[in-house]
Amino acid sequence: MFYELAVSTWGREEFDAIQKVIASNRLTIGPHVAAFEEAFAAYHGRKYAVMVNSGSSANLVSVAALFYKKERPLVRGDEVIVPAISWATTYHPLQQYGLKLKIVDIDLQTINMDCRQLEAAMGPHTRAIVGVSILGNPAALDVMRRFADERGLYFLEDNCESMDAELAGRKAGTFGHISTFSTFFSHHISTMEGGLVTTDDRELFELVKSMRAHGWIRDLPSDSSIFEKRDDDFYEAYRFILPGYNVRPIELSGAIGIEQLKKLPLMTAERRKNWKLFQSLFDGDNRFIIQQENGKSSAFSFTIILNPEAKLSRAKIMQALKQADIGYRIITGGCITRHDVIRHYDYACVDDLPNANVAHDQGFFVGNHPFDLRPQIERLREVLDTAAR
Ligand SMILES: Cc1ncc(COP(=O)(O)O)c(C=O)c1O
Repeated sequence: MFYELAVSTWGREEFDAIQKVIASNRLTIGPHVAAFEEAFAAYHGRKYAVMVNSGSSANLVSVAALFYKKERPLVRGDEVIVPAISWATTYHPLQQYGLKLKIVDIDLQTINMDCRQLEAAMGPHTRAIVGVSILGNPAALDVMRRFADERGLYFLEDNCESMDAELAGRKAGTFGHISTFSTFFSHHISTMEGGLVTTDDRELFELVKSMRAHGWIRDLPSDSSIFEKRDDDFYEAYRFILPGYNVRPIELSGAIGIEQLKKLPLMTAERRKNWKLFQSLFDGDNRFIIQQENGKSSAFSFTIILNPEAKLSRAKIMQALKQADIGYRIITGGCITRHDVIRHYDYACVDDLPNANVAHDQGFFVGNHPFDLRPQIERLREVLDTAAR
């Protein structure tokens, strides 16, 4: 394809790492996953990182952990504020744990939650905010965290789309009480499938570790803060303290993660160069609304929303992209209330979500990869310009 939506970022290093793990014959979770977790936490300046088998699982165990905190746990029926646009599994664990969603519209320029509506979203049962940075562009994470702190809310940061983005000198994924990442194939770094949870809170770290592995105590330190060790090795070896899952990653994923993380700064720099070119070619053309950077985007892809005032047909534009062999897709998962699954949710919206609906109906994104995409981006510009005339 001339301009792919997603490409592999692996080189020899990743394949060599795979071979080494296979030769070691230790394929289940072990030292490579632990080393990746340590490196990932250090890269983000976080105390703890826990790897799981996907970003979706990272969200699941994070929500679960908040239900088992000793003090002020979430309880069923609590309300949580969420943006209208994100991926389906940002929301599903909230539904599965009996939380009520309060859905807030996005800002059409950043495609992130419109924080001016936070006050209107607050109610007597609000206990948490989920902040999502869409496609590499940091949401107003500082505003959300401050808002949460002032009201005693938990701030869960779904950073599955914005690894290595920065806001106010801090990496996205460090603003939440608990933050999640995805290392799925098409994301900033890839371990095939994979995800991570980061936190500075020891209790949350231990809860997530236990949740990841059957609710077991096996991976917890002997001076754990979430259980008291007993003097009976036989029963201690198979002691379960939480209703957990098995969402452990395998060693191969940890070994690949170590190599990919080393490459991340360079890959982000390349993506940012492409982003500058994309911006320079599209800025000021009012037919297209492109994502406005908040802080420093790690520019995972380029979003384009057809300005409703320009009255363009997305179908016609997509036809032109298809003919030009340019890959495209809906922005993240589109507006959550437009999906059939919403009938299974307990939810309310602050308003009619006009911006999220425009993004759903008139938006799309194309890929941004960690190498020079000048020919692809210039062609994209030409194709869109012609199709929009
Ligand atoms: C915002 C967001 N959250 C969660 C996920 C889930 O990550 P995974 O695909 O690794 O399960 C994604 C995936 O794209 C995402 O975009």
